[in-house]
Amino acid sequence: MSNIKKIGVLTSGGDCSGLNAVIRAVVHRAILHYGWEVYGIYDGTKGLMDRPMRYKKLTIADVDTNILRQGGTFLGTVNSGDPFAYPMPDGSKKDRSNEVIDGYNQLGLNALISMGGDGSMAILRRMAQQGGINFVGVPKTIDNDLGATETAVGYDTAVNVATEALDRLQPTAASHHRVMILEVMGRDAGHIALASGIAGGADVILMPEIPWNMAAVKAKIDSLRGNGRNFALVVVSEAVKTEKNEPVMHKFADGQVRYGGIGQYLGTRIAQETGAETRVTVLGHVQRGGQPSPHDRVLASSFGVHAVDLVAQGKFDRIVVWRNRGLTDVPITEAIASYRAVEVDGAMVQTARGLGICLGDR
Ligand code: F6P
Repeated sequence: MSNIKKIGVLTSGGDCSGLNAVIRAVVHRAILHYGWEVYGIYDGTKGLMDRPMRYKKLTIADVDTNILRQGGTFLGTVNSGDPFAYPMPDGSKKDRSNEVIDGYNQLGLNALISMGGDGSMAILRRMAQQGGINFVGVPKTIDNDLGATETAVGYDTAVNVATEALDRLQPTAASHHRVMILEVMGRDAGHIALASGIAGGADVILMPEIPWNMAAVKAKIDSLRGNGRNFALVVVSEAVKTEKNEPVMHKFADGQVRYGGIGQYLGTRIAQETGAETRVTVLGHVQRGGQPSPHDRVLASSFGVHAVDLVAQGKFDRIVVWRNRGLTDVPITEAIASYRAVEVDGAMVQTARGLGICLGDR
């Protein structure tokens, strides 16, 4: 048997729906099955970096009833707090990784479980290697761009939200004879756009993986009109570039830069080229919040239980994944190394083409 007694759990990187369900599963499995103590670390690795440290010893009561259903992460998270290049108040960057490692040791943790996407996993693994931390990862990302797992926590909910948006846009598009453009997230993969576009009956889906041209989009809208259709639904992934192959970015007051604005660009261009009345909806963080879908709850629960079991077996430096209708785990290095963009010849793209959806290239 392992000599594990105390484990830490934290959430890292951008949030998504289903994180709380993972934490709940970790607490349930660790306490009820193994009799361990579980420490929830606040705000990702920052809770271990700050002095005094910020954490809570979690009980079953902390994660009972409502947590499973809630979006976000009750532990909090950060996506701009890389301990190896931590942003300091004077604008400089400082390596504070040893403070996090020291926090882990001070708390007397025997292992750490963290949710994260590819960026967070790379950072956490580096820190685990440096500090001898027994680390297990759980994949989460609405972008679904981790190659090691078929799906990650948060993706299904995001697709549900985007699909519901299309369901709501369709009647108003038809009522007003408009072309509705829906901009969805995905840095830098078009999975949300493709899946929600198919599910939501889009006429045009633009993704960063498939270069697009205005002539193809115009031809599709013209042909819909020719067939008597008075509206169109267009889904565009935020990472799609303009006709001049430029990304459309938004700079926030704090200097951070994110994708945002390709929907508006497209709305203007479609109006110019087709004469259609266009309106643009930018879904943004709505895709990350709200109640997790049943699929994400099941995935999160399975991942949480399996992560704890890996700790119990002394299998560290691994990430839990979903493959071939089942749970398994792979080395974190493998997960970081394999990025998953939309496969341009894959089943989903073939399905979209088979349905006559314009993907912007023809
Ligand atoms: O990676 C997840 C994601 O939601 C992307 O789809 C999006 O581009 C980005 O994070 C937004 O980041 P932030 O929450 O920092 O605005």
